[in-house]
Amino acid sequence: MERCPSSALVYKDGQMTEAAVPENTVTVIYQGPYYLKGDLAIEQSPDDMPGTEFRAALCRCGLSKNKPFYDNSHDGQFKDYGAVGETGEPLMEMGGKLNITPLKDGPLLL
Ligand code: FES
Repeated sequence: MERCPSSALVYKDGQMTEAAVPENTVTVIYQGPYYLKGDLAIEQSPDDMPGTEFRAALCRCGLSKNKPFYDNSHDGQFKDYGAVGETGEPLMEMGGKLNITPLKDGPLLL
């Protein structure tokens, strides 16, 4: 299976060969979406996007026409440097599913 970073495009060769990376990560992209990698459970994820179990680009600007997924609708209209401030405490455990729930007209609940 070929993959793209956003999971919007999937090339199928008949088998799912991808597996979750051992650590779930969320990366805030400069003037762009969140990139998530790991063992993901995204509510509202369509069945024809199996790659979203492992990686996804989720809208951060609120303009996507395919929420919670990123679709570049913000094209030039979203200015945010992606700074997240101080880091938290280091992880004490690894593994497990990262559940993502998009709230109506609001943020993502992780
Ligand atoms: S972050 Fe670009 S469409 Fe929302």
